[in-house]
Amino acid sequence: MARPLSLERGRPLVAPSLLAADPLSMRQAIDGLSGEADCLHVDVMDGRFVPNISYGPALVAALRKAYSDEILDVHLMVDEPERSVEAFAQAGADYLTVHVEATNHLHRLLAHIGDLGCLPGVTLNPGTPVEMIRPVLHLVDLVLVMSVNPGFGGQAFLPEVLSKTETLCQWRAADDLDFLIEMDGGLGGSNVAAVVAAGCDVVVAGSAIFGAADPRVALRDLRAASGRDSRVRA
Ligand code: DX5
Ligand code: ZN
Repeated sequence: MARPLSLERGRPLVAPSLLAADPLSMRQAIDGLSGEADCLHVDVMDGRFVPNISYGPALVAALRKAYSDEILDVHLMVDEPERSVEAFAQAGADYLTVHVEATNHLHRLLAHIGDLGCLPGVTLNPGTPVEMIRPVLHLVDLVLVMSVNPGFGGQAFLPEVLSKTETLCQWRAADDLDFLIEMDGGLGGSNVAAVVAAGCDVVVAGSAIFGAADPRVALRDLRAASGRDSRVRA
């Protein structure tokens, strides 16, 4: 059964994106974080929804086997995700997040992900209005706000998406919902405080962590730079 992230630790949650780790040394990259990560963010790309190709269920299964205690936060950047959610659920994903732009039947798909025993997440590209996901917010445990156009690590943060996070905080409070708000793309020391101040609970970071000389220290610095207790919701 999937395990949820906990905000009870009194600090913003940080999700290292394995996309920025050396694929030939992924085990060393994860071990090098010494348990500091709140979850592992796994970017799945199909070469259609996004131009890049990355991993499949085999990597998720291998991570599940090697790291039984880690929460696996799987971000599906694939067309027609309904064709692959079962494989990722069986592989051991905890959070399974799909793009609103990638499916014709988002409501059905999110319910199906829950039926598969995973925590459903929904995400949207920077150019997609946040109103597109409002009808399904009661079905999700996680909303991922993309702050770059998905497909590659190391891109520049798009600050115009911060207002989506603020809107989501308002809707969550107004409708008495309980999803986490995660942001992904171009995050690092220069912008993480603004991102968390805008209401983000979970910060995804690839290059800012694995591109650093000491990823464990970089992760801790990122958490420290975030500047506010993520449990305080706007
Ligand atoms: C982008 C991915 C991100 C990416 C983030 O398509 O969804 O998770 O790995 O990488 P950075 O932090 O380098 O922007
Ligand atoms: Zn991602």
